Amino acid sequence: MKILVATDKPFAPVAVTMIREVVEKGGHTLALLEKYKTPQELHAAVADADAMIVRSDIIDAAVIAAAPKLKIVVRAGAGYDNLDLNACTAANVVAMNTPGQNSNAVAELAFGMMVYSARGGFDGKSGSELMGKTLGLHAFGAVGRCMARIASGFGMNVCAFDPFVDAKVIAEAGVTPVATLEELYSGCQYVSLHIPANEKTKGSIGERLLSLMPQGAVLVNTARKEVINEAELAAVMEKRSDMKYLSDVTPDNAELFAQKFAGRYFFTPKKMGAQTEEANINAGAAAARQIVSFFATGNETFRVNKPK
Ligand code: 3PG
Repeated sequence: MKILVATDKPFAPVAVTMIREVVEKGGHTLALLEKYKTPQELHAAVADADAMIVRSDIIDAAVIAAAPKLKIVVRAGAGYDNLDLNACTAANVVAMNTPGQNSNAVAELAFGMMVYSARGGFDGKSGSELMGKTLGLHAFGAVGRCMARIASGFGMNVCAFDPFVDAKVIAEAGVTPVATLEELYSGCQYVSLHIPANEKTKGSIGERLLSLMPQGAVLVNTARKEVINEAELAAVMEKRSDMKYLSDVTPDNAELFAQKFAGRYFFTPKKMGAQTEEANINAGAAAARQIVSFFATGNETFRVNKPK
């Protein structure tokens, strides 16, 4: 089988080597398409692919239509909002993710941004510390758990809201479970987002929740820019000169932030959360193993789309 790794944002070379090892040991062939510039390049590369490994690459109906032999696509990462699941199902293509494999990298980046911001971007003036501050985790999945572990080292008080996780499980991790989003946002100076981008969550973080946050509020977004209602965030930041926004990916209205909120925001130019050798190795090799196992035994663990 031909397994194509198609990544606009390439994996570290060491991760590609490991993916190749897994693929070839499984008796398959690896093809590599990195830093492609147009969808047409991707369409040409998938024409004879039986399987694909991607990152945030957009796998829409046109890509699926260009890949008549495709049987499985694995998003090497957690969020699969870049995959058109209906198109995959309609074409009998199995779609998977690799949950948890890059979570630590994302959590470390969140703390990097928090320290950078608390220290005023290292401008030499007196900043503040994370110790003793309250961190609210909006969702307690794999990244949320890594956040809690790191936060305890910083001496932060951690709360979490997650309707899909038993409060007992949250408490066992040393985190205070809260029953409502209102409680989370009103009780935490730092709120870190770990929700997926889907029809329910898109645009859901806006004025109603943000205006509840206490003095010195810092919103940390290593999830997706789509979950933020940017117009409402900007309106709240305009009213509240104490509020900061830290985001792993530049928002659509970046210029507005530059004009109005100097010193109160930080954006990575390109999504960087999972951009470590370790995360690339973990997620990339997991994706390759999942594909090899699928072809060997039909194993569909981590499938995220419905069968036809
Ligand atoms: C994820 O959903 O796993 C992260 O956002 C990483 O995305 P990336 O592979 O595009 O860096």
